[in-house]
Formats: sequence, C-alpha cells, structure tokens
Amino acid sequence: MRVLVTGGAGYIGSVVAAQLVAAGHEVTVLDDLSTGHADAVPPGATFVRGTLRDCAAEVLADDIEAVLHFAAKSLVEESMAEPAKYWSTNLGGSITLLEAMREIGVRTIVFSSTAAVYGEPERTPIAETDPTRPTNPYGASKLAVDTTLTEFARLYGFGAVSLRYFNVAGAHQGEAGWLGERHHPETHLIPTVLARAAADGWVQVFGDDYPTPDGTCVRDYIHVTDLADAHLRALQSCRPGEHRVYNLGDGTGFSVRQVIDVCAEVTGIDIGTDVTSRRLGDPAVLVASSERIQAELGWRAVRDLRDMAADAWAFTKARREA
Ligand SMILES: NC(=O)c1ccc[n+]([C@@H]2O[C@H](COP(=O)([O-])OP(=O)(O)OC[C@H]3O[C@@H](n4cnc5c(N)ncnc54)[C@H](O)[C@@H]3O)[C@@H](O)[C@H]2O)c1
Repeated sequence: MRVLVTGGAGYIGSVVAAQLVAAGHEVTVLDDLSTGHADAVPPGATFVRGTLRDCAAEVLADDIEAVLHFAAKSLVEESMAEPAKYWSTNLGGSITLLEAMREIGVRTIVFSSTAAVYGEPERTPIAETDPTRPTNPYGASKLAVDTTLTEFARLYGFGAVSLRYFNVAGAHQGEAGWLGERHHPETHLIPTVLARAAADGWVQVFGDDYPTPDGTCVRDYIHVTDLADAHLRALQSCRPGEHRVYNLGDGTGFSVRQVIDVCAEVTGIDIGTDVTSRRLGDPAVLVASSERIQAELGWRAVRDLRDMAADAWAFTKARREA
C-alpha cells in the first residue's frame, strides 16, 4: 500500500515508518522538522520536508492510499503558554489534511490521539467510553481531531482509527540503527531518568505521598515497537464509514520509583533521588484499559518495562558513540 506518514521524522512516526517499510509498504514521510530529525526517516521512505498546511494536498496527490497522522505539537506545558499554536497545528493542520484527503479521495487514516483527552480520570483503568475532559489545550486539540474524524467517517465515509497512547517509551532497532526519543525539551520519564543517571546520578521525584503502593505516581508505559505493531493492525482494520477509538497501554502501570529502579538496573548506575513537592495537576494513577484493542484487533503489549529502559539506554549509548 502507498502510505503517507505525517510526522515521520519524529520519535513514534519514524518507528512506525520503519515498520511499514519493513512490511513492504511504499512510504512517504511529510514532516516540517520542527521537532523531528531528517536522519530518523527510515531508508526506503520518500521524505518531503514541509508543513501539513502547505504540503498535504501535493503529497497526497502522489497516489497515496492511506495516512498515518502523527504530526503535532505535544508538550502540555507549552500548550498552556501558547494555546493558539496547538489549535492551529493540531486541529488546523489536521483539518487541512482531512480536507485534502476528502478532495483527492483518500479516506483511510490512523490518528495519534492521547490519554490527555481524558483529563483527570474518575476511575482506572480508563476505558474508551469514559468521559473526555481534557485539562489543557494539547488534550483538547487532540480531542477535537477525534471528533472531526467521527464526523468525517459519518458524513464522507472515512475509515478512521484513533489510537490513544498513554506513555510511549523505549527505542526501536531498525535497519539503519536505533530510533528513539530526541525531544527538546525532554519531558518523558524514562529518557529523563537515563540522561540524569548518565549526568550526575540524581533524579528529581515530584511527590512520594500519593495513594499508591510506594507513594509515587503510577503511569502506563508501552514500548514504541509494540505501539508500531498496533498501528499496522489499525491500518488494516480501517472500514469505510467507521471511526473507532482504542486506548493503548499495558493495563497495570509502573510507579516513578519502579521506573528509576529498572533504569538503575539496566545502566548499572546507582541512581539517587531528590523528592520534592507534587506538581500541580499530576493525577496519582493514569492507567489504560486496552481490552478493546485486544478483543477487536488481537493486539497486546509484549515488551515490558525492562525492555523499554534497556532499549532506550542502548539508543542513548549508540548516539553517544556515533
Ligand atoms: N510520545 C508519547 O508518549 C505520546 C503520547 C501520546 C500521544 N502522542 C502523540 O504521538 C504523536 C507523535 O509523538 P512523538 O513523541 O513522536 O512527537 P515528535 O515531536 O517526536 O514527532 C512529531 C513530528 O511531527 C512533526 N510536525 C509537527 N508539526 C508539524 C506540521 N505542522 N507539519 C509537518 N510536520 C509536523 C515534527 O517535526 C515531528 O517530527 C504526536 O501526535 C503526539 O501528540 C505521543
């Protein structure tokens, strides 16, 4: 199949693009490199540098049959400081893409949604049917795209799947080497802990008085390679006139302390912790129910926290040695 991967020079998009190439698809990556890296685009994929707004129509016209849509801004704090950027890129950019798809007749899309659409959950694990009450412009802009996809499925016959990721981690060894997280700033826990471990061996922990087994926040992590597998399954499952939504997590979750312990184990570095007060708006537990995607697409996470930390560490070391 000829597929367009928007944001395919970013962390997750590049891993999915590599998996699509490996599975025999013809892949075009559209990315403006605002947070991505040209060298992450896998060999075998065609790379077009540009924004959704300027280039989506032109790229789609090249006989594209389906779209995997990752391109977005995704920093929660930045979204609170610059909400217009989030509405413009995440919703505006997506609408430009969807309109271009409609005009050209491409109606299959897999979209990167997020746990942030749920806001502070009333219960965990969170199911797809739970209320969506985003607490920041990032989550709200993603929810607006989900709603638009429901309408485009109903009104124009799009076949769409939204995958709501919780925390994605780890790195993927593709044909051209490791692909992993290179966000600036890095806000995700595992790469942050690994970077701190390598720098001075100290990690800051925001609160250890939550109602969790060890007092630190619990989050749901999945390995980026497992996530890529979910995308390939979602792509095959798109059906005209249907927009389906799936949560992606492992259903249990790990505490900040457990993550730090596993990072210490894989790096062999004794990591110290500096416990400070809680951050505003951090729920104690955010865990996904992935029962729906397991039942309907036969997907389940097969890699564990140790794999995520070990692969992220291998990626970090490979970049340092390059
Ligand atoms: N990383 C996670 O844990 C996580 C969790 C939930 C959801 N998501 C979603 O997954 C997607 C990918 O996340 P990521 O961590 O790989 O982020 P990333 O920043 O590494 O990748 C996003 C890519 O999109 C590109 N891009 C941004 N705006 C663009 C535009 N207007 N036109 C063209 N390209 C543009 C960037 O240059 C970058 O390469 C995002 O949509 C994000 O919201 C990620």
